[in-house]
Amino acid sequence: MNRLLASLLLAIALPASAADTELNLYSARHYQTDEALYKNFEKATGIKINRIEAQEDALLERLKNEGANSPADVFITVDATRLAKADELGLFAEVKSKVLESRIPAHLRTGEWFAFSTRARVIVYNKIAIKAADVQSYEQLADPKLKNQVCVRAGMHPYNLSLGAAMIAHEGEAKTEAWAKGLVANFARAPKGGDTDQIKAVGAGECGVALVNSYYVARMMRSTAADDRKAMEGINVVWPNQQSWGTHINVSGGGMLKTAPHKEAAVKFLEYLASDEAQIYFADGNNEWPTVPGVKVKNPALERLGPFKADTLEIGKTSKGAIAAQKIFDRAGWR
Ligand SMILES: [Fe+2]
Repeated sequence: MNRLLASLLLAIALPASAADTELNLYSARHYQTDEALYKNFEKATGIKINRIEAQEDALLERLKNEGANSPADVFITVDATRLAKADELGLFAEVKSKVLESRIPAHLRTGEWFAFSTRARVIVYNKIAIKAADVQSYEQLADPKLKNQVCVRAGMHPYNLSLGAAMIAHEGEAKTEAWAKGLVANFARAPKGGDTDQIKAVGAGECGVALVNSYYVARMMRSTAADDRKAMEGINVVWPNQQSWGTHINVSGGGMLKTAPHKEAAVKFLEYLASDEAQIYFADGNNEWPTVPGVKVKNPALERLGPFKADTLEIGKTSKGAIAAQKIFDRAGWR
């Protein structure tokens, strides 16, 4: 579909000039539990949600192209790097909200966007091939001891860039580059696939150890498929860096757009996402943790994974280092 036609159709689907009885939401989330989340908001406020769902980067591109004419009020997506990118493009408006400021911990929000759930970048290892003591930190994955053992998706992926950015913030660029080089030297294979593929490869013994997001682990823990069960039997999960800066945390979150036609509804919706009820739906829909302290999700897989020390680096700061991380990973040959 050409862009003009697309925007015409969008203009019909999403009236930008309507009163604040509706909200245009651009979402990169597509979980069934989100349906209940939106329905509850509509019921509680009488504001109708018009939802456009697409892949994260596609939505960002669309917002960029629509510019000032965008009908979007709120953009929600996964990964701090993508949220920071939207912010750098000047898409987000400043939001002043006592509710959001009191509910969401300071390190999990900026002045423009807010994290509504967290996920951790964890280590999974093959029980037979690897000793637990050798894989307790991100740094250890670069130890020559693990030659031909490490599997991980492409370095350019936001999940890895965010981890690299966190490492830069904690250890500096020189140490991060040395780490990336060591990691690449330990690769069991050239990076390919997503995080689930790495978990399966570790389960099958094709790789000894991998870096993956926690929700993929939780999803496989809850899976009844025979091959998933088999893979999970072969692996253990580690919370990395418990003796130092804590396990790297990423987020899923969102903010109000500068060009939002329904600003009042947008803030209301963001505040709703920070309510106890919405926090549970938002986080649990993807096996994540709520960002609002004290909100308890009943998720058997997350319960089995247990508590851990999470990195408390400011999420806004983490994501800003992504460009430096990309350069470092390029030089290290992590493609
Ligand atoms: Fe993911």
